[in-house]
Amino acid sequence: MAVDLLLGLQWGDEGKGKIVDVLTKDYDIIARFQGGPNAGHTLEFDGIKHVLRTIPSGIFHDKAMNVIGNGVVIDPVVFVKELEGLDKFKIDYKAKLILSRKAHLILPTHRLLDAASEAAKGKAKIGSTLKGIGPTYMDKTGRNGIRIGDLELDSWKEKYRNLADKHEAMISFYNVDVQYDLDEMEVEFFEAIERLKELTFIDSEEYFHKAIKAGKTILAEGAQGSLLDVDFGTYPFVTSSNTTAAGACTGLGIAPNQVKEVHGIFKAYTTRVGSGPFPTELFDETGAEMAKVGHEFGAVTGRPRRCGWLDLVALKYACQVNGVTQLNMMKGDVLSGFKTLKVCTAYKYKGETISHLPYNIEPENVTPVYTEFPCWKEDLTKMSNPSQFPKELNAYIDFLEKELEIPIKIVSVGPDRKQTINR
Ligand code: GDP
Ligand code: IMO
Ligand code: MG
Repeated sequence: MAVDLLLGLQWGDEGKGKIVDVLTKDYDIIARFQGGPNAGHTLEFDGIKHVLRTIPSGIFHDKAMNVIGNGVVIDPVVFVKELEGLDKFKIDYKAKLILSRKAHLILPTHRLLDAASEAAKGKAKIGSTLKGIGPTYMDKTGRNGIRIGDLELDSWKEKYRNLADKHEAMISFYNVDVQYDLDEMEVEFFEAIERLKELTFIDSEEYFHKAIKAGKTILAEGAQGSLLDVDFGTYPFVTSSNTTAAGACTGLGIAPNQVKEVHGIFKAYTTRVGSGPFPTELFDETGAEMAKVGHEFGAVTGRPRRCGWLDLVALKYACQVNGVTQLNMMKGDVLSGFKTLKVCTAYKYKGETISHLPYNIEPENVTPVYTEFPCWKEDLTKMSNPSQFPKELNAYIDFLEKELEIPIKIVSVGPDRKQTINR
């Protein structure tokens, strides 16, 4: 068995990019399996910060191959900008970045449809990153999409035109004010397609089958988080793909019995960007302090992230759905010096106290029940060994491990690659 998964357990931005980069030295292949440029995965090393959108976070290592799987949706325009960002660092992406023929393309009109759909929703908007994710997955499941492999066929431009025309009719149906110049967008799009075609396209399920047979090690890198999963998240305030463990199987063509370790990653507190319920959200100075110290601004949109206490009800649910075998706790350093810490261990829900995630977690239905902890005062960012951890941090970790019944194997104490402590 050779496939491990790394999955965000909250509403995204847990620090997946950082940990994938840290773990890459132990793997032959790093693979993205869902989502697209709605993701923003941050890596920091040698004093430089990199934000990856569609490209797997193993790309800065010499050895590992990086695969974009069939479950991913690719915007050629964003993708090419990402490649240009790598050029500065002399990354040989033509040799170590390969794309599944079955991955779907985000067209310029998918982005416009996303904008029109959100505008039409008014106050009920999802808070989408507006990268065209929802409309592209709709065309995929509606069996209208254009895939990377289509670019090798002569007929693809005809298919493109038909679909783009249909999208334009749909945009006008929304009857909202979306300004655009499609001709201009298409120039950029077709140029980017030519750059994309310089990369290697593969039959990725065959590639993975052979890699597994040859004993190669594979790490599947999740995007978003479990609470944004289209089936298991806070629907409809979710993304349009399966961000959970099962999504790695369908998004790469890997059988469930090939999966071994499932790394679940969470922040020591909780954040969310975009709309939707968030039971432990803080609207006070403590929440503002988390946002300030944690630099909680979206890596893609720059929007402020909403902040709140750790929600164990939601975290347990995510661990169950994913079959998490080991945990990584991120950003404990942000909480240093807080007066007290709170962890939500149950919900008061329609007159009852419950410890599972119910169908509806709208604020009017849910009141969090908290357990309080004294917080550590020490600066964690310079620590390199668990023996240096303050007793309050150890107590927090012990409590979470006991509640979740899963070991916390990595504690991250800063954004840099080096600020990573194994337990
Ligand atoms: P991802 O989408 O899961 O890859 O996470 P993002 O990159 O969107 O957001 C995580 C942010 O936290 C980035 O700015 C990281 O550089 C930063 N980060 C990651 N781990 C830590 C940590 O342990 N401490 C601090 N202070 N920042 C961290
Ligand atoms: P990473 O991989 C945080 C959120 C958006 C919005 C909802 C739907 O960096 O953790 P979409 O663009 O998919 O239609 O948006 O999901 N969202 C994310 N939030 N991190 C992400 O990715 C996200 N990708 C999407 O804010 O609420
Ligand atoms: Mg992110």
